Amino acid sequence: MPRIFMFDAYGTLFDVHAAVARAGASLGARAEALSALWRAKQLEYSWTMTLMGRAGEVDFWTLTGRALDFALARFAIDDPALRGALLDAYPDVAPALAALKAAGHRTAIFTNGTRRMVEAAIAASGIGAMLDHVITVEPTGRFKPDPAVYAHARAEAGAPPPRKIVFVSSNRWDVAAAAHAGFTPIWVNRSGQPGEYPELEPAAVMRDLSSLGKLHEQGGIS
Ligand code: LAC
Repeated sequence: MPRIFMFDAYGTLFDVHAAVARAGASLGARAEALSALWRAKQLEYSWTMTLMGRAGEVDFWTLTGRALDFALARFAIDDPALRGALLDAYPDVAPALAALKAAGHRTAIFTNGTRRMVEAAIAASGIGAMLDHVITVEPTGRFKPDPAVYAHARAEAGAPPPRKIVFVSSNRWDVAAAAHAGFTPIWVNRSGQPGEYPELEPAAVMRDLSSLGKLHEQGGIS
């Protein structure tokens, strides 16, 4: 039965850490710590602004820039090239999207990112033709994991029953929020993290996207 497969963007489709490693080649061993701190601060800012009810004042691009400035200052690095780091899709993304489309499913991105940020990443990685929808949280003035943004994503997808939305994310907290929204969440545990959020489990866990189409055919998600 056709479904909509909805993907988180950063860390799930687009490789944030590889972009930092490439753009900041001179950083050496510090690249990984820098990108981890950048990402952690980006999310922290999105959560704190949402909790304070002030997320509508700042978009994800702004928060991402502030988080990078913090991480660069923390490591005493002066490397403006990082600001323009282009994000590549992980190598398993295009084949997975193509397989889902060939099987008659719809595909979507659902992200905190601004439309402009996400469309640049989609264009850079050449996956635009395989995506039916690009859904951003922007109209809600909130960020994930506020339940209102998952309700918005469902509405943008044509309001299917929540469990017909297969939501795929590498962020375990995002998977938990999608489970809370009644979606069918799949955790792409790319970096082998331990489990979390036991009351909000994924319907399936995979290491990458290569088995996504197959899992569905085999009835791994109902
Ligand atoms: C996103 C972040 C949470 O794309 O990865 O929404």
